[in-house]
Amino acid sequence: MNGCVIMSDKCALCKAAAKGDGMRKLFSIVAAVIAATSASSSPPQATPISVSIAADRAGPKINRDIFGQFAENLGTGIYGGVWVGEGSTIPNVRGLRTDVLTALRALKVPSVRWPGGCFADEYHWRDGIGPRAKRAVTVNGSWGNALEKNDFGTDEFFDFIQQIGSEAYISVNMGSGSVKEAADWMAYMTADPGTTAGAERAANGHRDPHKVKFLGIGNESWSCGGAYRSEYYVDEMKRYARFVRNLNLKQQGTDNPTGGSVAGSNPMQRIAVGPGSPGTDYTEAVMRAWKGHDWSWSIEGLSLHNYTWVSWPPSYASTGFGEREYATLIKDTLKMEDMIRIHSAVMDKYDPEKKVPLVIDEWGVWLAKLPGSRDGFLHQQNSIRDAIIASINLNMFTRHADRVRMTAIAQMVNVLQAMILTDGPKMVLTPTYHLFKMYVPFQDATRLPITFDAGIYRFGDVSVPRIDAIAARAADGKLWIALTNIDANAPAQIDAQLQGIWARTASGTVLTADRVDAVNTYDKPDSVVPRQIAARVSNGRISLTLPPRSVTVLSVTE
Ligand code: AHR
Repeated sequence: MNGCVIMSDKCALCKAAAKGDGMRKLFSIVAAVIAATSASSSPPQATPISVSIAADRAGPKINRDIFGQFAENLGTGIYGGVWVGEGSTIPNVRGLRTDVLTALRALKVPSVRWPGGCFADEYHWRDGIGPRAKRAVTVNGSWGNALEKNDFGTDEFFDFIQQIGSEAYISVNMGSGSVKEAADWMAYMTADPGTTAGAERAANGHRDPHKVKFLGIGNESWSCGGAYRSEYYVDEMKRYARFVRNLNLKQQGTDNPTGGSVAGSNPMQRIAVGPGSPGTDYTEAVMRAWKGHDWSWSIEGLSLHNYTWVSWPPSYASTGFGEREYATLIKDTLKMEDMIRIHSAVMDKYDPEKKVPLVIDEWGVWLAKLPGSRDGFLHQQNSIRDAIIASINLNMFTRHADRVRMTAIAQMVNVLQAMILTDGPKMVLTPTYHLFKMYVPFQDATRLPITFDAGIYRFGDVSVPRIDAIAARAADGKLWIALTNIDANAPAQIDAQLQGIWARTASGTVLTADRVDAVNTYDKPDSVVPRQIAARVSNGRISLTLPPRSVTVLSVTE
């Protein structure tokens, strides 16, 4: 292979050696392949990298739900980050901060997962409805024992997602709650105002039923959600799937005058807990149960959690790091590919038609907390490295778009790999925010087959692919290409050829920075922001130079 890693839809990102106890064997084989490949000579960096896009051959749809986000009652993710209260001097709309709403709107966030995470399994929804002065004051035992005043509850959450134009992904409490509590919550959210539950919601200012597009049945039930054996989880999951009903008849389609259970155009999807490691215990148990399900229950998604953290507890710094840390975290990110492949293979066994999506509803870079920040608040900075890691993850998701049809990055504001950081009235957009904005055109686009020589970027004994790329045709017919140059030092020359069309122009934006640890701060918010880039187009071929440590998104006219 001439020292290159060939990338295509079939042979996606190279499986750089990943960590993970159960799969050590598989990973060491993969590591050996990488090592062997690395030993051969890389092409000179100045040699253009050929990219070939089959613009006339459509692949699967890149479901826009792949670009979902997660906002947990954790640290300042909600309080301070999203919710400041109506009486705040920080400009707000019904208590939700205006600057954050405006920024999120531009990302076209398809769904927001709430209230957790681990917090979901100790959240009692009744604490967070009705007049705020009368709400329960509790302690967030999952996250730093913070005081939870429950000011941001169910109705505030729906106001939030409506204001940013998103949809609800509600995780119900399966750890310390009950089927009845979850069913009652769903009735409060979705029942007709003619019912007692719906009337209570109406009395709280929301006459029309809310729409719950996704329902999470538990969270990490193998750990913080109750440490259940997979068999126990499956038995409980069936009860929740059966009785936690969405009563929004318009959404479910059961208001069909002829009766029956005709699905609406956008019925709720129930998402079961799945794996958080290469071990397939939960995947097997849930999918086996799904294959044998009868009319009385089902699920429409299996969750997978996978973070970039190298090892637990996360110790890598989010600022002031060097190239070794950069390369190591990129390599650790590539284990997502193995996670998807391992668990998709089990799903394929029970569900070859890929009816059940793999829902990667927690992913991202989990780093050491910022010095001086509170324990349990998971507050970290966000660098160009993290944006590059987001592009690598999103590209992997699109390559598996037939199975991976929804994800949620952890998390939205102030927590882990956040889009936005706030400090009192100050707000700054992170490199990951800009990356998500650049990728908006890929929402609901059709993936196009692409092949290229990924090459190798090495730092010491760490080897990873040097280039990553995806291409897609948007619903409006426009063609888009995303190109990531992972190499921390060398630019990459691209020579792209598009089969089936004649390219006329190619231009877009590039996100890069002068250092791998570059971040945006309240004082310098524009250190890592996208800038315009135009490619040369000659005889239908596109050529451009990708700066080191960069992501470029181009739109092509034909
Ligand atoms: O995203 C932070 C936490 O990580 C979530 O609450 C939990 O589900 C996971 O372990």
